Amino acid sequence: MATILITGANRGLGLEFARQYAAKGERIIATHRPADPGPELAAIAAGSDGRVSLHQLDVNDAVRAEELVVSLNGLPIDVFVCNAGINSPPATIDAIDEAGFLKVMQTNVMAPMRLVGLLADQVAASDRKVMAFLGSRMGSIGDNARGGGYVYRASKAALHAVVKSISIDLAPRGVVALLMHPGAAKTAMAGARGTVEVADSVAGMIAILDGAGAKDNGKLYNYTGEEIPW
Ligand SMILES: NC(=O)c1ccc[n+]([C@@H]2O[C@H](COP(=O)([O-])OP(=O)(O)OC[C@H]3O[C@@H](n4cnc5c(N)ncnc54)[C@H](OP(=O)(O)O)[C@@H]3O)[C@@H](O)[C@H]2O)c1
Repeated sequence: MATILITGANRGLGLEFARQYAAKGERIIATHRPADPGPELAAIAAGSDGRVSLHQLDVNDAVRAEELVVSLNGLPIDVFVCNAGINSPPATIDAIDEAGFLKVMQTNVMAPMRLVGLLADQVAASDRKVMAFLGSRMGSIGDNARGGGYVYRASKAALHAVVKSISIDLAPRGVVALLMHPGAAKTAMAGARGTVEVADSVAGMIAILDGAGAKDNGKLYNYTGEEIPW
């Protein structure tokens, strides 16, 4: 049984990761931002014979993040699914809200960096040693043909750069760090632009993670398995 830690598991892709990993019989540490988990996440935990544990975590709360990791008591983490993230309302380049920009960068870039720092030893101590980050095609510079999306693109491009460095720095410890684009998955974030069923998106990403090894370190994949340019 592998141990999987998922951030932002209360809804959207994170909830579906919890659902599908629970169905595979894995042990799951699922984090939710609200004080109490929502009914869908609570039901997954209730039906798991204790394999799914729920933990409150706002990823921007450094104190709480450290408390949570300390409470895990060195438990090896086979797969860290760094999923929690936020979008930004579209804005033209002359109308970027600075506070909004900083919030997106804090959530999509700073929080993952902090969590990697806190969890690196436990991932390196596991059998599978995988760190998976929800990146985005929107963060790919090579794939940007439409422009716009300044704030979200900047945050995901920054996350991609961070994960590339993590993949190099933690490679000597056997850790595989990779990024996955979930497609325009039909979550609240994608709204009306969603075209990919959430279950299909997550099944594709779990298939990537099930086969993840050194060959995948530092790569950015679409949920379908093909590589996306940086
Ligand atoms: N859906 C897409 O088309 C798409 C495409 C590319 C990349 N992604 C990425 O995939 C990831 C998941 O997105 P999604 O589509 O599932 O979005 P979503 O439906 O909006 O869900 C986002 C999740 O992140 C959590 N979250 C946000 N800020 C948080 C914080 N400060 N602390 C803890 N949890 C926080 C939310 O918790 P609350 O319930 O408390 O808000 C929610 O569980 C994100 O990183 C996103 O950028 C999504």
